[in-house]
Amino acid sequence: MKPSQLLFVALAALTVDASPMIQERQAGAFDSPPYFPSPKGGWVADWSSAYSKAHALVSQMTLAEKVNITTTVGWSMGKCVGNTGPVDRLGFPSICAQDGPLGIRFADLITAFPAGITTGATWDEDLIYARARAMGEEAKAKGVHVLLGPAVGPLGRAPQGGRNWEGFGSDPYLQGVAAHHAVKGIQDAGTQATIKHYIGNEQEHFRGDGWNHNTVSANIDDRTLHEVYLWPFSEAVRAGVAAVMCSYNTINGTYGCSNSKLLNGVLKDELGFQGYVMADWLAQRSGVEDMLSGLDQTQPGDGESWANGKSLWGDQLSRAVLNSSVPVDRLNDAVTRIVAAWYQLGQDKNYPPVSFSSWTTNDTDVLYKGANMGPIVKVNDHVDVRANHAEVARAVARDGITLLKNNGNILPLSQKDKIRVFGSDAGGNPNGGNSCPDRGCNSGVLGMGWGSGTADYYPDIETPIAAISQRARDVESILKDQVTADVTTMAGAKDARCLVFISSDAGEAYITVEGNQGDRNDIHAWHGGDDLVLGVANACKNTIVVMHTVGPIIVEKWVDHPNVKAIVNAHLPGREAGQSLAQVLFGDVSPSGHLPYTMGKRLEDWGAAVQLITTGTGRIDQEYKEKLNVDYKWFDANNITPRYEFGFGLSYTSFKYSRPSIRQLQRPSRLPPTPPKRGSTPTYPTNIPAASEVAWPKDITTRIPKYIYPYLENPEDVKVGKYPYPAGYSTTPKPAPAAGGAQGGNPALWDVIYEVSFNVKNTGKMTGKAVPQLYLEFPKSVEAPVRQLRGFKKIQLKRGEEQKVTLQLTRKDISTWDVTLQNWVVPQGDFVVRIGESSRKFVITCSTRGGCDEERGQHRD
Ligand code: NOJ
Repeated sequence: MKPSQLLFVALAALTVDASPMIQERQAGAFDSPPYFPSPKGGWVADWSSAYSKAHALVSQMTLAEKVNITTTVGWSMGKCVGNTGPVDRLGFPSICAQDGPLGIRFADLITAFPAGITTGATWDEDLIYARARAMGEEAKAKGVHVLLGPAVGPLGRAPQGGRNWEGFGSDPYLQGVAAHHAVKGIQDAGTQATIKHYIGNEQEHFRGDGWNHNTVSANIDDRTLHEVYLWPFSEAVRAGVAAVMCSYNTINGTYGCSNSKLLNGVLKDELGFQGYVMADWLAQRSGVEDMLSGLDQTQPGDGESWANGKSLWGDQLSRAVLNSSVPVDRLNDAVTRIVAAWYQLGQDKNYPPVSFSSWTTNDTDVLYKGANMGPIVKVNDHVDVRANHAEVARAVARDGITLLKNNGNILPLSQKDKIRVFGSDAGGNPNGGNSCPDRGCNSGVLGMGWGSGTADYYPDIETPIAAISQRARDVESILKDQVTADVTTMAGAKDARCLVFISSDAGEAYITVEGNQGDRNDIHAWHGGDDLVLGVANACKNTIVVMHTVGPIIVEKWVDHPNVKAIVNAHLPGREAGQSLAQVLFGDVSPSGHLPYTMGKRLEDWGAAVQLITTGTGRIDQEYKEKLNVDYKWFDANNITPRYEFGFGLSYTSFKYSRPSIRQLQRPSRLPPTPPKRGSTPTYPTNIPAASEVAWPKDITTRIPKYIYPYLENPEDVKVGKYPYPAGYSTTPKPAPAAGGAQGGNPALWDVIYEVSFNVKNTGKMTGKAVPQLYLEFPKSVEAPVRQLRGFKKIQLKRGEEQKVTLQLTRKDISTWDVTLQNWVVPQGDFVVRIGESSRKFVITCSTRGGCDEERGQHRD
């Protein structure tokens, strides 16, 4: 053991009882301290009826049945990407878990919704909810119990991060509001939501899947964890989320699904999470220790590699309970959490059967696909679950569209305009929108990134060129990306309006697309998009750039070209890529999206710390040195002028702000009041079950190869033994954390302390939607980002209409996380509140001590 490792062990031991913080063990190096035992679920009033039903059911289960529910049956052994073993005897079904965050993966007759990033760009709470509700309804109608979304991790720290587009934008507050409504929407429809990936899964390189021991360690200090990465997860827990998916990577040196501090301590104790922790697929790293650390369900059942049928739980968990290394109490809690979530969502009543197969589009297939055996059964019933969801999908795609430049009001276009369209991104994939599995190619209009967070288009993506051609009489196009003579000739047509389509794609690491291993190699437009824009703009006086992109792209080569009159960021529209865009381009509606991330001028502008790590072995330390200053906060703190700042977005109309006021509703104490006492949790007998409960049943005559069973050959031979428990292991519950007390944390954190009101008037010529945004500057007494988003609202106003808007600041909004007190603290002094149309354009300034002024000149630097 190296001296530094000795120090680590010594400190870890010291920190167990002294302080539950995530410690900085040396400058720039972190470890995650132990936190045991795993807190039991069931103490929150909202869940008590579900827990008492679960208790009644689980009390009747055998050890084998309990193991089945936690373990899942192995890759491709059921119709969904994750399937638990059923308890037929008691009417508890196989629970189907299916991706993902924008619709149902591997199914037909569903809606491929706009991606999370597009949804975040709407800044519209109602649309976020409506999209999620529709997704939940589709999931339920297909028989999916657990939808594997929403995603808020990655948060979007690294602009190149491959999966940022699955989430809602690079700010914890925006992600938090979206997560809250998304969970509510999915679960109000009766489907369990899964918030993922917990936590620090900010890049795809070395994310640690596939038992790759070269794994990034997201080294996050305790304050940054609470104020940035945990924030959206807290909001999901507050909304009552059923499942949390732990991530592949390590956090402060410990794997996400083995991290007792983060699962037992932060999630289950401090945030009062009542649902269950599910491992990302093959993210489980050990048998006993992960269960003690708070993991409740492994997925997809196989342990160290896909479809090998060798589980770290399954029969091994049966053995671990019989030999006493996993206390039966812990297993009971894990099972009760899973069963309670099923009751909580009302899934015990008339839940539709799973009516699709993830593994074939044929109507029939073998029952056990993973073993390629079993009877031939009907697997695809082709249930059409789309209802009128195209409308909400189109509304999200449309209202996310972010207008970045519009010189001379070149937009909206008129139907009479001579329109010339360039770029493969305006058309379809010549091989069909679903031709690349999990959208692992960038061909034709980009509706989503690639990976597990995708869904199939049905029947195909609606292309921009089709929608534009329907709207205008004189449309010609060359849908390729090279600047050839025909392109410049067409672009040079007299009075043409030239629409140039460019894109930038990213996805999950298991697919490499055009040399990009999940993360983006760089953040320029793909397929030579910069040259295409320049080639067209050099010939066409009225060039309009439309981008479909997973995140920020660098536009410096052409943004100031005098002929580039307009720039439209259409994000990732999902299936509804056509009409949603045409409605904005032709002025049926005014654009109302705002950037959910910063568009900088160079990749380096985001800071050295957030650049991808693409080389390394073993524990690859990724220090979150920028701490709280992620995305726009980094630009603000370092006086870096972005090209387009976070929150920015133009409109065809204009808004005037007036009559600001700030009101204090409560005088906040420095610390929140003591949280309410917790309710009781279910209890079960703690004796070790009879070995016979996990003996192979006589009626199983054929054992399906690679199927995960809970049974042991000679269970009576398993003896109670001594297990080398992890350092810091204890069976005595910790005192309830001061920051806890309810789902999401101490309920007093959501007490409203200030209200800021103002009027917004539509002073332009058409109906439009404004997004007033509230940015908070903390008092000088505390170190904090220059300003942080703490409120927003989307409002529709007719021409001339005026509306009063009130934004609320809660105790949590005005607190910082104190690592010593392990609590949220309201700092002393004056808070400055800025209201504006972006993170840099403010129209009203208020202070908690001095009232409000309307800014004279509007400042945007
Ligand atoms: C791995 C991904 O990280 C996760 O998001 C997904 O839900 C699972 N695979 C299942 O497909």
